[in-house]
Amino acid sequence: MLLVQTKISKITIYNKFLIQKIKYKQMKIIEIKELHKTYENAGIPVHAVNGIDLDFNQGEFAAIVGPSGSGKTTFLNMIGGLDSPTKGNILINGVEINSLSDRKRIDFRMKNIGFVFQAYNLIPVLTAKENVEFIMELQKRPKKEREQRAISLLEAVGLGNKLNERPKRLSGGQQQRVAVARALASKPKFILADEPTANLDSTSTKNLLNIMEKLNREENITFIFSTHDQRVVDKARRIITIDDGKIKNDIKK
Ligand SMILES: Nc1ncnc2c1ncn2[C@@H]1O[C@H](COP(=O)(O)OP(=O)(O)OP(=O)(O)O)[C@@H](O)[C@H]1O
Ligand SMILES: [Mg+2]
Repeated sequence: MLLVQTKISKITIYNKFLIQKIKYKQMKIIEIKELHKTYENAGIPVHAVNGIDLDFNQGEFAAIVGPSGSGKTTFLNMIGGLDSPTKGNILINGVEINSLSDRKRIDFRMKNIGFVFQAYNLIPVLTAKENVEFIMELQKRPKKEREQRAISLLEAVGLGNKLNERPKRLSGGQQQRVAVARALASKPKFILADEPTANLDSTSTKNLLNIMEKLNREENITFIFSTHDQRVVDKARRIITIDDGKIKNDIKK
């Protein structure tokens, strides 16, 4: 009898745990309302983002696809607070990033968002390992932990033999992988990646996708990436198509 009761209560606890987990997974992390970005090109307005409403839940693995010039980079830049909207709102964990002061926005970005962008912005005087460590230094993490995490992330992206090289001695694809390791180093809530595999050969693409999937699964880090790469699209669990700055399609697999 006691055994049965113990079993039942174990099941109840496990069910509660599952419900918690589902709730946690489905928590809204990003809410985007009526988002617009208009640039001026020689006096002519370009509606790079033209009225986007979209939400992302914690734990999503989402690809943004669409033709060149459709607004993907502009959209990601605004989610990351690197560019400000002409109109509309972006809430991240309920915080409207554009209403923050510059200082607070930088701090918020550092704590919540990892970036992998086309311009990798590696610091030229620092080695690959130091570039990855740098963000953790800003987060005031202990030296030993910083070093270990930097090395294991660089090994994971296949750069274990380039730890002490400076960016100018690395190829474009290798620099991009350092940028990926750096984005992961800060353990962000979500990672924005603008064409993360654009300069990678097929082995590196596979490695990178495996790392991203592992972090997504094991640490529930949300990934939003723009891509033209079918191999990346195939891995995504949500595919958002943008055209002329508008959402044309939003498919959850
Ligand atoms: N700083 C800027 N000033 C003026 N126009 C811009 C600027 N940045 C982007 N645009 C324009 O906004 C539109 C969207 O550009 P965006 O870079 O977001 O496209 P994309 O979908 O990322 O393209 P790609 O796939 O080629 O990277 C384009 O017409 C582009 O020319
Ligand atoms: Mg782009």
